[in-house]
Amino acid sequence: MKRVALYPGSFDPLTNGHLDLIKRSLKLFDELVVAVLENPSKKPLFTTDERVAMVAQVVKPLKRVRVMRFDGLLVHLAHRLGNPTVIRGLRMISDFEYEFQMAQMNRKMLPGYEVVFMMTDERLSYLSSTLVRQIATQGGNVRILVPPVVAARIRAKVKKG
Ligand code: PNS
Repeated sequence: MKRVALYPGSFDPLTNGHLDLIKRSLKLFDELVVAVLENPSKKPLFTTDERVAMVAQVVKPLKRVRVMRFDGLLVHLAHRLGNPTVIRGLRMISDFEYEFQMAQMNRKMLPGYEVVFMMTDERLSYLSSTLVRQIATQGGNVRILVPPVVAARIRAKVKKG
């Protein structure tokens, strides 16, 4: 049986931290579905179409990764997909509280909901999409923080204003 995992997130934008997690989760699962949230509460830098396209372009060489968008509750998506294991990254202990609460709430709503927390590579634990957005929009260089495809799209976006 194929072991499928679901990696949900805002990916605004996808960072090297996300990509590292995607690659490492492919060692544990046969197939990974990356699900891009349509309406993150924070005002996104990139539209949903742009975020989906960016992720798709970056993961294209990885083959066993599928990208989709989703709106509404994560548990509804998980249910539709047959309740695959959900992957979330943990960078620091500060991530844990929110992730733990979300996981427990999701399990209340969807019995059998399972989440695997993967530790971020310690060299990337300082990295977040929020910081990348802040740096990029204030004219900083994010070249070493995101995949080249994403860096190019950020440059284009910031130039356009
Ligand atoms: O990349 P992010 O912003 O940390 O991802 C957060 C995400 C998308 C996993 C989370 O916000 C989510 O699942 N949103 C969908 C709405 C939902 O299910 N909310 C209830 C959580 S208990």
